[in-house]
Amino acid sequence: MRQTARRKAGMGTEAIVNKDKRRFLIGATSVVGGVGAVAVAVPFVMSLWPSERAKAAGAPIEVDISKIEPGQKINVEWRGKVCWLINRTPEMVATLPKLDDRVADPKSNAPQQPAYCKNETRSIKPSLWIAVGIVATAVPFVMSFWPSERAKAAGAPVEVDISKIEPGQKINVEWRGKVTWIVNRTPEMLATLPKMDDRVVDPKSEVDHQPKYCKNENRSIKPEYWVAVGICTHLGCSPTYRPELAPADLGSDWLGGFFCPCHQSKFDLAGRVFKGVPAPTNLVVPPYRYASDTRIVIGEDTKA
Ligand code: FES
Repeated sequence: MRQTARRKAGMGTEAIVNKDKRRFLIGATSVVGGVGAVAVAVPFVMSLWPSERAKAAGAPIEVDISKIEPGQKINVEWRGKVCWLINRTPEMVATLPKLDDRVADPKSNAPQQPAYCKNETRSIKPSLWIAVGIVATAVPFVMSFWPSERAKAAGAPVEVDISKIEPGQKINVEWRGKVTWIVNRTPEMLATLPKMDDRVVDPKSEVDHQPKYCKNENRSIKPEYWVAVGICTHLGCSPTYRPELAPADLGSDWLGGFFCPCHQSKFDLAGRVFKGVPAPTNLVVPPYRYASDTRIVIGEDTKA
């Protein structure tokens, strides 16, 4: 019970990061402060979430938008990704032309929207904007961990304070434009790994998807902290963190790990891929080193 509770407490947040969309969000947030027309609360609308079956199938999601207040954002899930729906006020929409010379792609030339949304408001109706976004539910996205825009653009290493990551918790940071996870694994979670050896494809991490100093049972430098790029090795979705034991949808033999709802790939708590799923290889562990006991630098190798 204690183990399960700790794992639940650490259930993490998935993040899909897009620089353009982040930039827009920052702009939209500024507008909120300026016009004072936005609802403060941004509730996570659980009732709008589709059934597990629909999510697994990647089915279209029908959403009732009638209750989204002006200025409000809601989150729904589509194909395992969080999607935002924002009901923009006229004041918010009016800011968009003013931002043209401050954004990288004012004409939306990059194919990050359907053709029918390639317009100033990036939407069908100017008031309603829909985008794949960042989750912020049980575990807050730690914005202070994010590197500067310049550092990200340069693909610079990212230094992260790990001292506040609770046992069992996962945080997300961005490194080279990719969501990157850091999980503080409990002793109970680590104890599950040897039990998974005969259920995973590459228990010894023979495929070169980690630095050589992480080619071990835990796929990490220190056993407890696991660092990985949060992108499925099948088609690039971001798997969800499922640290709980034996949840109904994953089966009584589930010992915790990561589940990709796009095509049901499963990974254990070291990112080792299960046998018989679409993903071919383990999740990628990036190069990293410890700058101190409480700080990790992602993107720089540990010296031998
Ligand atoms: S993208 Fe993860 S299973 Fe297909």
